[in-house]
Amino acid sequence: MDKIAIYPGSFDPITYGHIDIVERALVIFDRVIVAIAYDTEKSALFTVEERIEMVKEVFKDNPRVIADSFKGLLVDYVARTNAVVIIRGLRATSDFEYEFHMASMNRSLNPHLDTLFMMTSKDYFFVSSRTIKEVARLGGVVEGLVPDHVGRCLRKKFKLPVNKKQHLGWED
Ligand code: PNS
Repeated sequence: MDKIAIYPGSFDPITYGHIDIVERALVIFDRVIVAIAYDTEKSALFTVEERIEMVKEVFKDNPRVIADSFKGLLVDYVARTNAVVIIRGLRATSDFEYEFHMASMNRSLNPHLDTLFMMTSKDYFFVSSRTIKEVARLGGVVEGLVPDHVGRCLRKKFKLPVNKKQHLGWED
């Protein structure tokens, strides 16, 4: 039977940091479900549908990655799938407390459910959806931190006409 991992989050938007975690998880698991939560404490820039579309576009050539969304509790969603584990990326010690609480609460709600943490690769330690949105909103270059398609979605959302790098003539 396929070993399936659930990678839940806001993914508002998906970054190369997230993609790196998915790719490394695929070494361990047969399939990874990138599961976008409707119910989070964060207010989102992109709709859940827009975020799913971005995830689908990023992994369009990889049938082992599934983009999905869920409402309500993560533990209930996981129970409806055949997943064996929740995956979360850890960037720094500052992430730890939040992640520790969330994993402990999820395990208290379902003692059979484990969370597997993967350390973010050094190249993406500073990358978060929140900072990406702020940089993009203020017209900064996010190339290399998010896929081009996501960069285009950000520019469209913030009504920025062109890639600043091209605009300033930095492009080779
Ligand atoms: O990327 P994020 O925003 O840090 O992800 C947080 C997420 C979506 C994993 C968390 O908010 C979540 O699981 N939401 C679903 C509702 C739920 O189960 N909440 C209890 C978690 S302790």
